[in-house]
Amino acid sequence: MERSLVLIKPDAMQRGLAGTIITRLEKQGLKLIAVKMLHLDKALARRHYAIHKDKPFFNGLVDYISSVPIVAAVFEGEGAIAVIRKTMGATDPAKAEAGTIRGDFGLDIEQNSVHGSDSIETAEKEIKLFFSEDEIFNYHQ
Ligand code: RTP
Ligand code: MG
Repeated sequence: MERSLVLIKPDAMQRGLAGTIITRLEKQGLKLIAVKMLHLDKALARRHYAIHKDKPFFNGLVDYISSVPIVAAVFEGEGAIAVIRKTMGATDPAKAEAGTIRGDFGLDIEQNSVHGSDSIETAEKEIKLFFSEDEIFNYHQ
């Protein structure tokens, strides 16, 4: 079954939106199979966003994602990656449709409330970065 890492980003944590965002994903029929709260250090932030290391926004993004504790989760389901990206909406909240997480809660192109993996390969790498095998659960819903 397909899996995706989800991060509830600092702007959402600071406005008490973690539960709301998790609920929206659960309502899509996705199964929560791992969850934890952690304060990313700069090294983990840089590894997670390594693909963007040459972008002008990289240092700002690393500072932002490691600014306050965040919630990391793994969701599982058929087509989970696409379902989550649709539920999140476009990267820039100004361009995200109403009813999407970023459309409803995102503040700007950086502080856009939520992260979801963008491919099966990326998801596998990202999940390993945040969770050990024994922190990921298999249960009947
Ligand atoms: P994410 O990886 O967080 O799920 O977001 P995404 O795929 O929709 O967007 P991506 O292009 O991977 O960008 C990663 C995150 O970097 C921040 N960003 N800032 N200042 C800027 O121009 C800018 N562009 C992107 C956002 O937090 C974005 O989600
Ligand atoms: Mg991305």
